[in-house]
Amino acid sequence: MTKELGVGIIGCGNISTTYFSLSPLFKGLKVLACADINVQAAKQRAEEYGVKAQTIDELLANDEIDVVVNLTIPDAHYPVSKAALEAGKHVYSEKPLVLSLEQGEELRRIAKEKGLSVGCAPDTFLGGAHQLARKFVDDGGIGRITSGACYVMGPGMEMWHPNPDFFFLPGGGPILDMGPYYIANLINLIGPVKRVAGLTSMASETRTITSQPRNGEIIPVKTPTTIQALLEFVSGATVTLTASWDVWSHRHANMELYGTDGSLYVPDPNFFGGTVEASGRDKDIKALGAWDHPFGKFNQESPNGPRANYRTAGLADMAMALIEGRDARCSLDRTLHGVDIMTSILKSGAEGRFVDLTTTCTQPAALGIEEAQALLK
Ligand SMILES: NC(=O)c1ccc[n+]([C@@H]2O[C@H](COP(=O)([O-])OP(=O)(O)OC[C@H]3O[C@@H](n4cnc5c(N)ncnc54)[C@H](O)[C@@H]3O)[C@@H](O)[C@H]2O)c1
Repeated sequence: MTKELGVGIIGCGNISTTYFSLSPLFKGLKVLACADINVQAAKQRAEEYGVKAQTIDELLANDEIDVVVNLTIPDAHYPVSKAALEAGKHVYSEKPLVLSLEQGEELRRIAKEKGLSVGCAPDTFLGGAHQLARKFVDDGGIGRITSGACYVMGPGMEMWHPNPDFFFLPGGGPILDMGPYYIANLINLIGPVKRVAGLTSMASETRTITSQPRNGEIIPVKTPTTIQALLEFVSGATVTLTASWDVWSHRHANMELYGTDGSLYVPDPNFFGGTVEASGRDKDIKALGAWDHPFGKFNQESPNGPRANYRTAGLADMAMALIEGRDARCSLDRTLHGVDIMTSILKSGAEGRFVDLTTTCTQPAALGIEEAQALLK
């Protein structure tokens, strides 16, 4: 197998700039072409980043492309990933992989039949902070994890996104939009989930856009905007996860995990960095000592100060996994288990009962300092 995979990006919107600008940090990847249903968007990115703009059909027929990176909107993830697999390309998708378990099973069937791989974001659990948390758990820092609590809550998306409609339609909502970061990190730290329950609600049947250019326009809400979920892990741990766009302010931490010997405070799973804190039985909460993990180093300025952003690490890990013949950390099985968890929570809310999951997965291999360094050029 070659030592570098040709990458074609489909979907040249907001997040595509992150993939174009960060992929050159990593081994095993060479972005060659891009496409979008909006031809102008593809042309613009092609010009900015020195790659070839193609139509979607041209990109899928391009022999130099080994992996299609699917950065389209959630509703288009399934058809675009399916077309890429059918064209003989490996696929790496932005989250959520698909909107239903059935769509994911179909991707798995085609990939298996054609001997191809499918991977999916989020890859933030590969960040220095989350891998430090993982090492602490693996080393027995808090004993056996027995329970935990996760909160991802805010007032919504209609105050910043120019076209927020899709966030409030089926396939959107806070659990499918933000849940993947939390669930991928819980699978990283605790492993697979056995069954879930959810209570789902919405504060309002409409929302008023306050961003430009549609300020004042009223849009419908057709999916729950507050989800209170219970997750029972195969390990026996039980975790609550609340995801809401109906909350103006709160004082809950992003993720706390409680073990037989202490507690672990995990920073925002939407980011690679942050401070990991823990206490033992003495209840003395302290930051874990910094470690020199490559994916925790500041490499960007943001409105909140310097930050570590290594999005694309999951794609690079998948490329190296293909080259080296090993398991990719952001694998189809893990991400589809995440989809099963999220859609089952929504199903539980609609039906008023616990839902047993039909999928499972293994914990991804930890990504220590050396393994992360090996992904970088
Ligand atoms: N924007 C972010 O900060 C961010 C962060 C993490 C993940 N994501 C995820 O990345 C994905 C894309 O988000 P975004 O913010 O870049 O959206 P966006 O709307 O800015 O861009 C999506 C692009 O996909 C194109 N597109 C839509 N349907 C298509 C199709 N069928 N074929 C080809 N192109 C198509 C659109 O024309 C658009 O250019 C979403 O799944 C989102 O959840 C976004």
